Order: sequence, then C-alpha cells, then structure tokens
Amino acid sequence: MFHDIPQTILARMRELEQIDLRDRADGTSRMKRLRQIPSGVGRFIALLAAAAPDGRCIEIGTSAGYSTLWLALACRVTGRKVTTFEILDEKVELARATFDAAGVNDVVELVHGDALNYLSECKNIGFCFLDAEKEIYDRCYEMVVPCMVQGGILVADNAINHQATLQPMLDRALRDERVDAIIVPIGNGELVCRKR
Ligand SMILES: C[S@@+](CC[C@H](N)C(=O)[O-])C[C@H]1O[C@@H](n2cnc3c(N)ncnc32)[C@H](O)[C@@H]1O
Repeated sequence: MFHDIPQTILARMRELEQIDLRDRADGTSRMKRLRQIPSGVGRFIALLAAAAPDGRCIEIGTSAGYSTLWLALACRVTGRKVTTFEILDEKVELARATFDAAGVNDVVELVHGDALNYLSECKNIGFCFLDAEKEIYDRCYEMVVPCMVQGGILVADNAINHQATLQPMLDRALRDERVDAIIVPIGNGELVCRKR
C-alpha cells in the first residue's frame, strides 16, 4: 500500500502538505487553513482502515481531502470505498480538486453537508475517521458506535492537543463497555476504539 503509491496521489499529497505548512507559518485564519493530519497519522489511519473488518469506511471532516487520500489507498487494497463528509463550500471545492487530480474518484464519495444529518443512515461501519469540530465529537461518537460492525474501528483525531474540550467524550470512550479504547500519542493524539 505504501510502496507503490500512484504518482498522481503522491503529487497531490505533497502539494497539500506544502499549502498546510505555509498556512500554519503565515497566520492564515483557522477556518481558512486546511488543518490536516501529518503524514505519519495518514499512514496510521490507512493501516487501520486496511485492517478493519468488512463494512463501510467513513470520514467526518474532509477539508481538502488529504486524510481521505490515505484512506483511498487503504480502500484500493480492500476493494471498498470511503465516504467523506464536509460541510464548508470552499473545502468541498478543494476536496473535489484533490480527488480529480489524484484520480481517486473510483474509491471516494464526497458528501457536501453536515455529517450529523447523514450518520444515522450509515449502517455497518467497519472504519470511521473522526476529524471535525471538537464540539460535535460526542454526538458523532454516539451515532457511529452503535452502527459499527463487530471489530470495527473508530479513530478520533486531536485526543491530546484538544484534550480539555474532548475530555467528556474521551472519558466516555475509555469507559464504554461497547468498545476497547486507547489514546495513541502520535500526531495530535489519536483515540482508537475497537467495537467489541
Ligand atoms: C480538521 S479539518 C479536517 C482535516 C482532514 N481530515 C485532513 O486531515 O485532511 C475539519 C473539517 O471538518 C469540517 N467539518 C466541521 N464540522 C463538520 C460537520 N458537522 N460535517 C461535516 N464536516 C464538518 C470542517 O469544515 C473542516 O474542513
């Protein structure tokens, strides 16, 4: 999966990494920035998505589609598709450009809208990457976990750098008898839950 990343995907990844770096350095406003995961976390979620049991692969929070490209690599391996949700018009436009340039439209479905309006329709979830506004993490968690297949994996970003805001949701997950959960100290901290 990582040894033969198509050139079109690699090129768009490098481009988004440069934009993200530049925006962080020049003080671009939070809502305009891509706020994407680092490449190490991309590899981490791709590995977990490829190892997840059969079921839907979803992502909550697309931005320009950087993390989706990593999930697309996993989907190429497993023969699945990733459905990714993005609420902001300008981010949807960037994500469309990403998926066109990278040539991954065969494995990516981009949904323009509030993920909370769609999650109740997502049954049999094998893998979910949650990376949206922290204020909706608890609601997303409560909607996703019941719809996960046994062995299904949920990864939530920012478990360490937004720990204070996310504490109630993190406590809930770490004590939740429906899942086994740990916080992995890579990137901004990844909460990883496996449905029992
Ligand atoms: C941290 S960024 C995602 C970064 C992306 N996962 C990556 O690593 O490339 C969060 C994104 O979630 C989007 N978002 C926030 N709330 C949302 C919601 N309720 N439904 C869909 N997207 C949402 C934001 O507009 C923003 O683009």
